[in-house]
Amino acid sequence: MAYNLPSMTVTVRSFAKINLGLRIGAPRADGFHELLTVYQTIALHDVLRVTVGRGTGIEIRCADPRVPRGGSNTCFRIVEKAMQTLGVKGRVLIEIEKRLPVQGGLGGASANAVSALLGLERALKKSLSTAQRLRIAAEVGSDLPLFLVGGTVLGLGRGEQVYPLEDLPAHPCVVVTPEVGVSTPKAFAEWDRLWDRLCGDGHSCPSGTSTAELTVPSASDRMVELGCAYSAWLSKCYSGAPFGRGRAENPLLELVRAGIKNDFEEVVFPEYPELCEGKRALERAGAKYASLSGSGSALYGLFATRQAAVKGAARLRKQGWKAEATTTLTRSQYWRQIFDC
Ligand code: C5P
Repeated sequence: MAYNLPSMTVTVRSFAKINLGLRIGAPRADGFHELLTVYQTIALHDVLRVTVGRGTGIEIRCADPRVPRGGSNTCFRIVEKAMQTLGVKGRVLIEIEKRLPVQGGLGGASANAVSALLGLERALKKSLSTAQRLRIAAEVGSDLPLFLVGGTVLGLGRGEQVYPLEDLPAHPCVVVTPEVGVSTPKAFAEWDRLWDRLCGDGHSCPSGTSTAELTVPSASDRMVELGCAYSAWLSKCYSGAPFGRGRAENPLLELVRAGIKNDFEEVVFPEYPELCEGKRALERAGAKYASLSGSGSALYGLFATRQAAVKGAARLRKQGWKAEATTTLTRSQYWRQIFDC
């Protein structure tokens, strides 16, 4: 069916995410790695304008030369799939106002794609089913489906299987965006090389294998370990079970106290020592917890109060870091603000 109405433009915010812990499992036959992570949406965002008119074709406009315009652009790919699934023909223009870093580990390109999809549906006044949206998003990339949930999200499989966790209260944070871009496939490949060096045969060393310097747990033991940390955190926060000192006062800080860690730091920090310095600088600036987000290069710190985050960001900027105080976004805030531009 051809689009036959006057052009219609929809403006959509495209929020970023951070990873509250990330464990990389064994490489799979399809080339991906098993992942276990908790995603958290934050208020930093790009802005997209999606226009649908008569004609055919998809055009991407963006002032940032690092953003591809053609078929490799995530927005292009998702719009193409959505138009096919909806059985609609029209001309789609997507204008991206880029504020998030490219290759920053904040899910910028993935969030852009999901916003393009939501903007397209609204402009066309047509809706895909939730299952169709999730399927199309996962086909475009592992990090897209989380943006169809928002808030605090458990990520499994290659990261594309997403489950909403209980909405955490919004929490102040600071995001540091170093100039370098980190390639995610390269970081995964580097992780495989690290494990091959330790175990010799691609992540499969049995639990407790000892090398000269250390005992190396198997990939699946390491997944179970983080799984336990997440379960302990969720039980403490939400189950009402009589452990510790009752319901956690601050679920996010309780999570980071559970000892979560981002595996990518093991391979990204040795390659880019300035990112490790950035993490230390965040801690010195008052972060209660600091980490690389995804495969980087962005780093984030969780702060006790909004005031501490603003002060911390100012201190980091004085030291020459590109740092911004922001907040995590609950699921309800995420959905309330997404079209509210
Ligand atoms: O899914 P996405 O397109 O973001 O993945 C980009 C690349 O990152 C994949 O081609 C793969 O090399 C790597 N990857 C992986 N395991 C994952 C996710 C991504 O190895 N769970």
